[in-house]
Amino acid sequence: TYEKIWLVAALLLIVGFIATITYGSVGLGIAMIDDSEETIEPSELSEDERFSEPRVEQVGENEYEAYVVARTFIFQPDPIEIPAGSEVTFYVTSPDVIHGFSVVGTNVNTMVIPGEVSTMTAEFDEAGEYGIVCNEYCGSGHHNMEGQIVVV
Ligand code: CUA
Repeated sequence: TYEKIWLVAALLLIVGFIATITYGSVGLGIAMIDDSEETIEPSELSEDERFSEPRVEQVGENEYEAYVVARTFIFQPDPIEIPAGSEVTFYVTSPDVIHGFSVVGTNVNTMVIPGEVSTMTAEFDEAGEYGIVCNEYCGSGHHNMEGQIVVV
């Protein structure tokens, strides 16, 4: 019946999506594990010790936390340096307008909203240089807003 055909087509689509996502992340040795959001008052941003000095911090044997500020039109720190084989949780926020934080060619991708901290955890298994781009229009410098993750 037609119903069955639609059901099979829908299932194939879902499998296709999952395959695409998996390929996209595994292909570059990066896998997003988790993502979430928390609220932060923009007025408290400069006093928040996590973001007053954007940086990468080692928190475990292969675990790192990256405190990233996206602002017109840069990412801080830049580059973000991490060792291969590490699991990194990114905390990303913005002091001004909405930005994007997207690691090129991977599914590590989030909107960065003033007043919110976007959190993502990803594994970096292979050494290399990975571009970060802003994929939310944020003004005249949007197209040049780029950063870099260097996995060594
Ligand atoms: Cu920042 Cu577009």
